This record gives sequence, structure tokens and C-alpha cells, in this order.
Amino acid sequence: MVSSTVFVLNGPNLNALGKREPGIYGSQTLADIEALCRTEGEKLGFAVDFRQSNHEGDLIGWIHEAGDNAIGVAINAAAYTHTSVALHDAIRAVGVPVIEVHLSNVHAREEFRHRSMIAPAVRGVICGFGAHSYILALQALSSITR
Ligand code: DQA
Repeated sequence: MVSSTVFVLNGPNLNALGKREPGIYGSQTLADIEALCRTEGEKLGFAVDFRQSNHEGDLIGWIHEAGDNAIGVAINAAAYTHTSVALHDAIRAVGVPVIEVHLSNVHAREEFRHRSMIAPAVRGVICGFGAHSYILALQALSSITR
């Protein structure tokens, strides 16, 4: 794996982007967002390893893997953001910077979305810019890792 690989990790239900609540999440599919990330990654000199899972344990394993094989992580943990102590602990267990990403402005939505279990463990949080949140996260990883 090249030394400037970044992992872009996506949690539950994000595989349904495009048809899932488009009024909130937009009409772009996860494949569209992956393509945007790859283009931005090329500009920044990153190889983008883009993954999605509906299973918490997959995300935890991938964070551990990123600690060994990547220089940073952008993660949209989706609903696990609001519930997962295990993801918080996984992020704290690795030495690479992790950026929390959300398409929507979670603070302008239901109260249960206002609390992030992972926010205290990450380097920073970007939310509310739709697919552009991912681009901003890659740019942030570029500026803090060089
Ligand atoms: C989300 C916001 C979460 O509250 C929600 O559970 C998601 C998507 C976002 O990208 O806006 O699935 O992470």
C-alpha cells in the first residue's frame, strides 16, 4: 500500500444514498461520492480506499487497519455516530488522524443526532455540506498530515 493512502469509511444505510431521504441527503449515490473522493484524492496525492458497511465490527476492523496502513481516515459513521462507544474506542486506539464527516447538518436535526459518541475521539468534525463534506475532510487530512 502506498504511504499516502487515506481510508474513507461509510457506515449503515449509506449504501442507499440517492434513494434514501433525498430531501436530506441529496440525490448523489455513494458511488458518485466515491468518484468525487477519488478525483480529489488524485489532486491531493492520496490513494483513496473507499468502503461501506452496515456492520459496526467492519468499521472497527477498518479503523484498526487504517492505523497500520493509512495516513488518515475520513469516516461517516452514520447512525453509529450517535451510539457507538466501540467506534470511539477504536479511533482512540489508532495513531492516525480521523475526521468525522456527515452529509447533513446533524445539529439542525433531531435531538438524538446532536450527540456524537465519536466526536471526542476525532481530530475534527465536518457536517452539513452534502457530498462536499467528504472533499473538505480530504483537504483537512492533506493539510494536517503534511
Ligand atoms: C449522517 C447523519 C446521521 O445522523 C445519520 O444516521 C446518517 C447519515 C449524515 O451523513 O448526515 O445515516 O451521518
